[in-house]
Amino acid sequence: MSSAAMAGSTTSPPPPNRSSLLRPLTLVLPLLLSVLAASFLYQDDSFSPLPLPMDALAGPPVAAPFVLGDMRKNSEFFHLEGCLGPEDVAYDDSQKVVYTGCEDGWIRKAGVEDLVPEKWVNTGGRPLGLMLGLHGEVIVADTLLGLLNVTKDGKVEVLTGEAEGVKFKLTDAADVAADGTIYFTDATHKYSLRDCSLDILEGRPNGRFLSYDPVTKETKVLVRDIYFANGVVVSPDQEFVVYCETVMNRCKKYYISGEKKGTVGNFIDHLPGMPDNIRYDGEGHYWIAIPVGRAAAWDLALGSPFLRRILGNLEKHSLRPRIESNSGVFVVDLKGNPVAHYYDPSFSMISSGTKIGNQVYCGSPSNPYIVRMNLTGLLPGGSSSA
Ligand SMILES: *[C@@H]1O[C@H](CO)[C@@H](O)[C@H](O)[C@H]1NC(C)=O
Ligand SMILES: *[C@@H]1O[C@H](CO)[C@@H](O)[C@H](O)[C@H]1NC(C)=O
Repeated sequence: MSSAAMAGSTTSPPPPNRSSLLRPLTLVLPLLLSVLAASFLYQDDSFSPLPLPMDALAGPPVAAPFVLGDMRKNSEFFHLEGCLGPEDVAYDDSQKVVYTGCEDGWIRKAGVEDLVPEKWVNTGGRPLGLMLGLHGEVIVADTLLGLLNVTKDGKVEVLTGEAEGVKFKLTDAADVAADGTIYFTDATHKYSLRDCSLDILEGRPNGRFLSYDPVTKETKVLVRDIYFANGVVVSPDQEFVVYCETVMNRCKKYYISGEKKGTVGNFIDHLPGMPDNIRYDGEGHYWIAIPVGRAAAWDLALGSPFLRRILGNLEKHSLRPRIESNSGVFVVDLKGNPVAHYYDPSFSMISSGTKIGNQVYCGSPSNPYIVRMNLTGLLPGGSSSA
């Protein structure tokens, strides 16, 4: 047991097994029918789901050669005092601390071993993705404010909050290239974090992948029409930047050098769920968080704008059945080939996987804890470095 556990900052795991998919569905069926009826009675022009490109979505998920389906067993749960929704975990090796952003606007800083948090800086917004900058600053994707530079001494500066005249609504993730360029995503320009499920259910590509040049201060839209633009990571050889497209169960790559510069290619398709943040571990692997694992009912909904309209209406009344389960982390190699899949049926909304030493730290936009899994003996061949 870690000292933190003894100090009481770990607590018992969250409630076990969420009921299976079908159970809540049968339970809410009467409700579903009445809301279905109600949904015919009014036309909500602001929420009208469209068909998704199913040819790219349909098909079985890719399988990893190494699968651990009971991740909970190897995990500790760290409740950071006062922090709800520690979405991302950034590591500062020089100080041996991690940073995470919480719902109350505070970026908390905690020792990498004990995870005892201290309030560091309040952005005044809602910090999600964080990344160490090249000069000791922390670059923050703040859903409310945009892309931020939080300096070493805790000053908050908004770098950019809009592009091409369209304001960001859900700035989500960022990474910094070796040349200083910051690559980042705005998941959607239509919905805020609070009602981002509606964006996902609506099936409209409101997301953008962008860059910010700290010298010219120019913000550029690199890719538009993305179905919920999420995690961002620069490849270690600086050849491309991966961005994840949550609704499409895939991550794409955008070339930043070489012959293909400025073009988009496939990185990984048919993930076993919706991807969130992606991080590189410095050892040949990318860690892709999967907040919502694949489920039959969700696959059905993806194919049906009509079903998604019903789910959206239920969502607005906080009545949507929970289909979030089998959350975890999916590991791929430098080329995007599957390496390992860690998940648990009882886990939901894991949004980041940051590998530090022999452990992976998993954040969440809604859970009140960080999950830390000990990877000793659970890394596939050749990568069990400490
Ligand atoms: C953030 O601010 C610090 C202090 O002004 C500066 O040194 C650093 O270059 C800034 N980073 C970016 C990406 O603008
Ligand atoms: C991880 O597990 C291994 C094997 O059980 C153990 O030796 C090691 O101390 C654990 N690491 C941490 C940080 O708990």
